[in-house]
Amino acid sequence: MPEVDKEGERYAADRPQQTPGFYLKGSHQLDWGMKNRLARVFAPASGRTVMLAVDHGYFQGPTTGLERIDLSIVPLLQSCDALFCTRGILRSLIPADTGKPMVLRASGGPSILREELSDEEIAMDMDDAVRLNAAGVGIQVFIGGDFETRSVHNMTKLVDAGLRVGIPVMGITAVGKNMVRDAKYFRLACRIIAELGAQYVKTYYVEDGFDTVTASCPVPIVMAGGKKLAELDALTMAYNAVQQGAAGVDMGRNIFQSAAPQAMIAAINAVVHKNLKPKEAYELFSSLKTKG
Ligand code: 5RP
Repeated sequence: MPEVDKEGERYAADRPQQTPGFYLKGSHQLDWGMKNRLARVFAPASGRTVMLAVDHGYFQGPTTGLERIDLSIVPLLQSCDALFCTRGILRSLIPADTGKPMVLRASGGPSILREELSDEEIAMDMDDAVRLNAAGVGIQVFIGGDFETRSVHNMTKLVDAGLRVGIPVMGITAVGKNMVRDAKYFRLACRIIAELGAQYVKTYYVEDGFDTVTASCPVPIVMAGGKKLAELDALTMAYNAVQQGAAGVDMGRNIFQSAAPQAMIAAINAVVHKNLKPKEAYELFSSLKTKG
């Protein structure tokens, strides 16, 4: 049971941060190239994104639903705003004529066979992100992990490299197995990631106080999906996250492990871009599932 968050009032979650001159929070003073790449990922009409996360193989190998990315994910490309994947999958399986922006996983090291996952390094040169025409790169940051300092420095090095070429960095809050997942932890992790320069942050939803996590983070937050939930629960979580200030989602298993991934991504799109309520979104999912 998460600890009730008593600090909420100080974050003024009901008074959204101003975004003068550019629609994305905290991004108005970035350079043109950086803004243009962000605008490929976050739809200018809604200010939000549905990123499809399929990078799991970088430490998990062929995850359930990703055994054959050519068969399961390529058909979903048309329905996402951006794909989050590794450069290996990009070069080997993603058609280069796709118009979709690609955000590339840029960290790696330990596999799931290891106890301590925070022992990561930067796993891609920014030169390669440029060569691949990436719209962004993503890296885990293990606040509170055994290798916290290294993982923070991995991110700051990547941010410096990204600033040189105009490629935004998505910092990802990576939670160790035994850490408490509450608003207090995510406020800490997201704020550190933003303060140290990431242009946006991926983090998990928490029932209590998620609006304080988004309010105290000066750059956009995208909600991570996490373990597979029942479709209605996943749609409800995505709905709550965007209503509480997230600029969209970066979801994987809750889409590609769904019984009907195409219907699920359509329903997530409606929640994120059209504020469709969870019950209606579930009805949309069910009707598309039946048709498909
Ligand atoms: C973990 C990651 C993942 O590798 C992946 O993107 C997770 O996606 P999901 O939890 O939605 O399946 O970034 O932090």
